[in-house]
Amino acid sequence: MRSVTASAPAKAILFGEHFVVKGALGVVTAIDLRARVKVTEDRGSSLTIYSRELGGKYKINLNNLESTPKPIAPFARIIKWLKERDYTIYPAIVEVKSNIPLGAGLGSSAATASAFTLSYTALHGAPLNQRELVEATIEAEIEAHGRPSGIDPNISVHGGVIAYRPGHEPVGITVGRELSEYKLVVADSGLKRNTKTAVEFVLDLASRYSGVLDHVYKAANELSKRAIIALERGDATTLGELMNINHGLLAAIGVSTPELEDLVYTARRAGALGSKITGAGLGGAIIALVHKDKTPIVVQELRNRAPWTSPVKLGESGVLVES
Ligand code: PMV
Repeated sequence: MRSVTASAPAKAILFGEHFVVKGALGVVTAIDLRARVKVTEDRGSSLTIYSRELGGKYKINLNNLESTPKPIAPFARIIKWLKERDYTIYPAIVEVKSNIPLGAGLGSSAATASAFTLSYTALHGAPLNQRELVEATIEAEIEAHGRPSGIDPNISVHGGVIAYRPGHEPVGITVGRELSEYKLVVADSGLKRNTKTAVEFVLDLASRYSGVLDHVYKAANELSKRAIIALERGDATTLGELMNINHGLLAAIGVSTPELEDLVYTARRAGALGSKITGAGLGGAIIALVHKDKTPIVVQELRNRAPWTSPVKLGESGVLVES
């Protein structure tokens, strides 16, 4: 039986999460953790999905997509999207393997969705182009999150480091060489949270305090603009300060927790130039910008408190066919 494997990267939002949902500029990097999806031809009328991360083996009845179990509903939504565009739908075995921590704000669901869409469409010789892959991945994210800004689907498809504003094409950022002296460290608090709940909480707060929070949204947009300049110049000191300010704005909209504050300040105390929540918050991960000489101590201090900590590489490749 023929098969195709595609992979897509995790991501870390450097600046602008939540604010991007209402149109502010966001800055995001692909990182060197990946979701791999192998699609193999099969007989019958279903997609059989194996995923340890999603809890085992599931079946999607291709003739009755509505009956799909919740954990794999995003796959059914992609199939429905392909069907509506007259792609040939065929039975297959889908094996998902990923080293991206789940529910941590590191883009695991978008990476899985884009890798699945590419491998499924490539197997029958009609791989979607990048724009279509983003659209299909947004469909999966709507199923999982309700109201995605599109930042996760765009970075999982395009990779690299990008500036993103909803409704606009993403713009690639060339990071200054000086930043090769610095590492981005990610620490997952292990506290599972739900992006949808966090996004709805923030949107509700923003609508009830619009006169106050409009200024915070404006500040976040301005902050991302300055961050893009600092990234291009390789100006780590400014980037660190902007990360700290961004963290303060995220605390202002209510998505920090005592555990996340502890990780953010642990990183700064150990020598990080800046640290902040990454992703939706209320749990999940933080990121810290650290000079390479200080990385071991920052990693060690974070490992004492967080169940998963790792330095990551920036600007990894977007979704691609591996074999
Ligand atoms: O799923 P997460 O934790 O990576 O959150 C995505 C970022 C948000 O800005 C909170 C939501 C969005 O769709 O942009």
